[in-house]
Amino acid sequence: MKQTKRRPVKKAVPSAGRRASGLKAAPSVLERALNGRTILVTGGAGFIGSNFIRMMLAEYPGLRVINLDKLTYAGNLENLADVSCDPRHKFIHGDIRDAALVAGCFERVQGVVHFAAETHVDRSIVDAGEFVLTDVFGTYILLEALRKAPGVEFFVHISTDEVYGSREKGFFRETDSLNPSSPYAASKVGADRMVQAYHTTYGAPTIILRPSNNYGPYQHPEKFIPLFTTHALEGRTLPLYGKGRNVRDWLHVEDNCRAIECLIRRGRLGEVYNVGANDERTNIEVARRIVKLTGASKDLIKFVPDRLGHDTRYAVNINKIKALRWKRKVDFEEGLEATVRWYMDNRAWWTRIKEKNAAFKSFYESYYKDRK
Ligand code: NAD
Ligand code: DAU
Repeated sequence: MKQTKRRPVKKAVPSAGRRASGLKAAPSVLERALNGRTILVTGGAGFIGSNFIRMMLAEYPGLRVINLDKLTYAGNLENLADVSCDPRHKFIHGDIRDAALVAGCFERVQGVVHFAAETHVDRSIVDAGEFVLTDVFGTYILLEALRKAPGVEFFVHISTDEVYGSREKGFFRETDSLNPSSPYAASKVGADRMVQAYHTTYGAPTIILRPSNNYGPYQHPEKFIPLFTTHALEGRTLPLYGKGRNVRDWLHVEDNCRAIECLIRRGRLGEVYNVGANDERTNIEVARRIVKLTGASKDLIKFVPDRLGHDTRYAVNINKIKALRWKRKVDFEEGLEATVRWYMDNRAWWTRIKEKNAAFKSFYESYYKDRK
C-alpha cells in the first residue's frame, strides 16, 4: 500500500490528557475554531448524528456540514427536515465503504465526526455481518482517506461505553482493557482500536469518544426508551428482558452532542474520552416511569426471555472530559419527560417507521416472536 505522510499533528490543549487524573480544568491553549470551516459528518441522518448537525448549525452560523449517510433502515432524512433547506447543510447519499466517494469528501473538509455504524445490539446477535462490514471495515476506509488528507485537522470517532463490557461495581476509565460482550460491541472495539492504531502509526489526528446510552428525540423505535414509549402509547406489551434489573447510564443526546463539540474544540489528539451522565437506572425503573408518563397501564410490562450475553451494567468514569469543562446539563427525570412528550407530539414520525419500515417490521416480528 502506498505510504502517505501526514503533516505533523497539531496538538490542541497540549497537556489535557496527562492531567486528566487530577480534576483541574485544562487551560484552553489552542481552541479549534469552527466558524468558517466545513466538517464531514458520517451517519448524520441517524439519531445522534441528526441531533448533532441541528445543534452545530444553530450554534455556529459560519459552519458548513457535509452529511454522508447510506440511509439504511436506521437513517431517516425526516430527522433533518428543519435543516434540509439550509445551504450550509449538504446531504450526500452514500456508503462510508465507498473509498472514492469518501476520499472526495475528505478533500473538501477540515474535520470529520464519524457516527455511521450498525448500532442495535439485538440485530448484531441475529447477524453480525453488517456490523463487521460497516463498523470495522467502513471505519478502516475512512482512516485510509484520513491519512491521505493533510487538510483534515481532526477526526472524532464515536465509539461506545459498551467496548469495556459489563461490571457490577465501580467505573471504567479510558485506560482499562476492552472486553466486549455482543457482536455489536466487538465490532465497535475493532473500529475503536483501528482509530487508535492510525494515530499511533501514522500520526492521524484522531480523538475517540465513548458515550453511555443516549436518549432523546429522533431515536429509532427499535431502541429501549422509544420502543417502550411508543408501545405504551399504542397500548402494546412492553417486552422487558430478563428480570429488568440491568443497569444503564442514560445520557441525554444534547449532552452527548455538547461533549462532541467540546472534543472538537478542546480535545487532545490521540486521546480517548468517556462520557456519561453518572445517573444509573435499572430497566424496570425506566419502564415504570415511561408507563406513568404515558398514562398507560403498568400491566403492559411483561418479563420476556433475556437478550443473549446481556450486559448487566455499564458505567464509565467521566473525570477526563470534565477536565475539558464539559458537564451534563439535562437531568434524567426532566429529559425523559421531555422525550416522552416529543414522542407524543411526533406520532406521525414513529408511526411511519413502525408501520411502513419493512426492516423494522420483519426484525420485530421474528426477534420478539417469543417475547410478546
Ligand atoms: P443510528 O442507528 O440511529 O444511526 C446510524 C446512521 O448511520 C444511520 O443514519 C445510517 O443510515 C448510517 N449508516 C449505517 N451504515 C452506513 C454506511 N455504511 N455508510 C453511511 N452511513 C451509514 O445510530 P445512533 O444511535 O445515532 O449512533 C451513532 C453512533 O454513536 C454509532 O457509531 C453508535 O455506535 C454510537 N453510540 C450510540 C449510542 C446510543 O445510545 N445511541 C451510545 C454510544 C455510542
Ligand atoms: O451503551 C451505549 C449503547 O447503548 C450504544 O453503543 C448502542 O448503540 C445503543 O443501542 C445502546 O445499547 P443498549 O443495548 O444498552 O440499548 P437498548 O436500547 O437496545 O437497550 C437498553 C436496555 O434495555 C438493555 O439492557 C436491554 C433492555 N431492553 C431493550 C429492548 C430493545 C429490553 O429490556 N427490552 C427491549 O425490547
